[in-house]
Amino acid sequence: MPNVKFYKNEDLPLEMHKVRIVQKLHLVPIERRLEALKDAGFNTYGLSTNDVFLDMLTDSGTNAMSDNQLAAMMKADDAYAGSQSFVRMKQAVEDVLGKQYLLPVHQGRAAENVLVRTFAKPGDIIPMNYHFTTFLAHTLEVGANIVEILHDDAFQTTSTNPFKGNIDIDKLVKFIEETGVDKIPFIRMEASTNLIGGQPFSIANMMDVRRVADKYGLLLVLDASLLGENAYLVKQREEKWKENTLGDIIKMMTGLADIVYFSARKLSSSRGGGICTNRHELHQKMEVIIPLFEGFLTYGGMSVREIEAIAVGLYETLDETMISQSPTFIKYLVENAESKGVPMVTPPGVLGAHINAAKFCDHLDPSEYPAASLGAAVYLCGGIRGMERGVMSSVRDENGVEIPSDVELLRLAVPRRVFTLSQMNYIVDRLEWLHDNRKLIGGLRWVYEPRVLRFFLGKMEPTSNWPHRLMEKFREDFGDSL
Ligand SMILES: Cc1ncc(COP(=O)(O)O)c(C=O)c1O
Repeated sequence: MPNVKFYKNEDLPLEMHKVRIVQKLHLVPIERRLEALKDAGFNTYGLSTNDVFLDMLTDSGTNAMSDNQLAAMMKADDAYAGSQSFVRMKQAVEDVLGKQYLLPVHQGRAAENVLVRTFAKPGDIIPMNYHFTTFLAHTLEVGANIVEILHDDAFQTTSTNPFKGNIDIDKLVKFIEETGVDKIPFIRMEASTNLIGGQPFSIANMMDVRRVADKYGLLLVLDASLLGENAYLVKQREEKWKENTLGDIIKMMTGLADIVYFSARKLSSSRGGGICTNRHELHQKMEVIIPLFEGFLTYGGMSVREIEAIAVGLYETLDETMISQSPTFIKYLVENAESKGVPMVTPPGVLGAHINAAKFCDHLDPSEYPAASLGAAVYLCGGIRGMERGVMSSVRDENGVEIPSDVELLRLAVPRRVFTLSQMNYIVDRLEWLHDNRKLIGGLRWVYEPRVLRFFLGKMEPTSNWPHRLMEKFREDFGDSL
């Protein structure tokens, strides 16, 4: 955020943009919200935006775009092959991420598919700081697996550790020695580790991982979907990088990786994705898969308009006033909710405010999906749609038994430059009320459980009449308020 001091020392995040196009929102009554939840199978993915007031499901493809991005979309070069829009995206990738070879893909998970299909074989294990849902699913689909190598305190939901996304170097070395390099296709590092609360890694840690990769001749792959935010937190929290620009920090991180991939739905406030490298032989290895799954090499499943928006969005990632907006709103939300007794993940991370659902609903058994239940309850009491990031977002073991989640979180995403400060205050208000009435929240059970990525399409039902009782309590306390 800009260096603007308030007269009374208030610590308010100040927006450095003005709003010129708006979308009207609707807050439907709680009775309608309960009906909508039932229709959605108590899965927030199943809700229609007509029934959602504050859509905090994700920041993916929902960040506000800039006037310059929209303007660029108007001059896109529509061509199947050789489009100048792609040339502009390639140049932006080279300027911002420092990589000269680029493969376009239709979104982040498509990049994961290409990577895993190219480099992993059945029986392989990919070490990483933490998995992302779609990366894990692609890895399992090819018969390989993953291992997560974080420091133990990464799973402490309340912590002062500024870099919970760091890889534990000793454990990494031990894993490599025990597994053998032949079974390790690459090491993966995810910027702003999504599933543990948007927590960053430090540059010092990435340098150590690079040294290990060099020692054992392993590739280092960086998931850069949330790279701008990781860079911002490095600048805030890692002493050595305080005076550097976001551009320096981003280049430092991408320079340490052999391959960088990203979801442009996140990284550049647009749609699409990409895989980039400076190593020609790696580029060639992956290239052959692009026409099979994505499209020709100069569009990769994206519309040229999106490609133009990515190019501009990548340059905008270097703008601290833009990148800091979401993290400072998240900090505001986390600190205010915490001050009302709501158990939040700390230190505040990026992409969203994370509620510790295991603690919020400590009266529920883990088998009752506390984070999914809390997600349903938050929607019911406020029209606020979050996303379960716990056991429901994960997988069962080979015997069909649920694997307890490392953290059981409800994420309220804060897409860039979308929400206002008064909306943050409304969220805090509803969270406080719900926390005071948390014992009314009951559990959920599966009605339909898909084989892969079950959290997207799965349907659940409450284990008792608790949603109705929660609604009645809301009416009792709020009268005829929406
Ligand atoms: C860290 C990370 N990697 C990969 C992806 C997948 O990207 P996409 O949704 O564009 O397929 C996401 C999406 O949220 C993500 O957060």
